Amino acid sequence: MNKGRPMADAVLSSFEPRQLRDVLGTFMTGVTVVTTEDAAGVAHGVTANSFSSVSLDPPLVLWSQSLASRSHAAFRDSDHFAINILADDQIAISNHFAKSRDDKFSGIAHTRGVGGVPVLEGVAAHLECTKVAAYPGGDHMVFVGRVERIGHSSRAALAFGNGRYMVGYSHDLGPASLRLGTSRPAHLQGLRIATEALPAIARSVGDHTLCLAVWGNHGPTAVHWEPSLRPVSNQLRPGFVMSIARSATGRAFAAFLPPEMTQPLVDEDLRLMPATGESLPARRERFAQEIAEVRERGIARAIGAGPSDLHRVAVNAFSVPVFDAEGQMAMALSLTSGAARLPPDWEGEVPRRLAEAGRELSTRLGREGLP
Ligand SMILES: Cc1cc2nc3c(=O)[nH]c(=O)nc-3n(C[C@H](O)[C@H](O)[C@H](O)COP(=O)(O)O)c2cc1C
Repeated sequence: MNKGRPMADAVLSSFEPRQLRDVLGTFMTGVTVVTTEDAAGVAHGVTANSFSSVSLDPPLVLWSQSLASRSHAAFRDSDHFAINILADDQIAISNHFAKSRDDKFSGIAHTRGVGGVPVLEGVAAHLECTKVAAYPGGDHMVFVGRVERIGHSSRAALAFGNGRYMVGYSHDLGPASLRLGTSRPAHLQGLRIATEALPAIARSVGDHTLCLAVWGNHGPTAVHWEPSLRPVSNQLRPGFVMSIARSATGRAFAAFLPPEMTQPLVDEDLRLMPATGESLPARRERFAQEIAEVRERGIARAIGAGPSDLHRVAVNAFSVPVFDAEGQMAMALSLTSGAARLPPDWEGEVPRRLAEAGRELSTRLGREGLP
């Protein structure tokens, strides 16, 4: 019997540090670089996501630092620190300050604040603090600071969760859904479910670029990317419209959406294809056969595409449909990798897992997308 215990897949009374880290990682945070100046006037800075607000009146904040940190003595002995809340284009700054090294500030644009603390340029916001307490906390020291000065820009803050950098955006309808007292429209609900599932899908298929696409005004449109450590493009962005005839994503839509929605775009795409000596009717005929195969297999592919405007290298791609509660194709779940890393076989392990993820998402959308 579940007597008031929170629902969880597993409840552990003894756990490995890795398991604890994974649980802590589910709590999403921003990313800060905490800075100080030592008695010799040398600047120190560390990337930290342990920052938290404590009190508004008096204005207090805290962060905790590993005792093993090379800069620990500097923060322990200093009376001031600054919390620099990184903007979403400052991943390189975060990585820079997350490594121990001499002279971390060389080449890093900054000014000096209260007590000489370095304030980084381009941050979303910052707080200059006087240290008022330091509490031992296991292998960390918790520093509490009184906020003396603050700075705020219009830049969006970088987010961090499950060990990955993230971009934060407002939750669907936000407060409006509470006011209306309604659940979210099914298509937004579906997109949210699929977006949230992407990191787990990425783990199951391996290190390939994953993309969620919907059918937009101009055809197959990317709405969310789960980047790979070995990216195939630096052009990937939400709103990117893909070719319906040549991309795996487009072919999935061509196969599973009603033809009246897709045919005009297919015709145009086939007409604009580089000349191969094949007549337009022959192209149409071949495309229809290929799409019939996609329908039969439940998965689309594009082999050896590129290099192009989008991809730096030749890529292989697969795409599967995700259906909503009404059985309509709601989005495409697609995967791309350099051709050398992703064999084109229909029966490969990666397309098999992608197809499985597509089916699972469809099941979830059917179940959870219902009003
Ligand atoms: C996203 C992120 C958050 C981190 N948060 C903390 C933290 O809260 N406290 C801490 O001591 N180290 C944290 N670290 C690790 C430090 O940045 C890292 O140990 C750094 O090398 C310390 O610099 P130092 O050795 O020059 O003092 C974090 C690293 C990353 C990437």
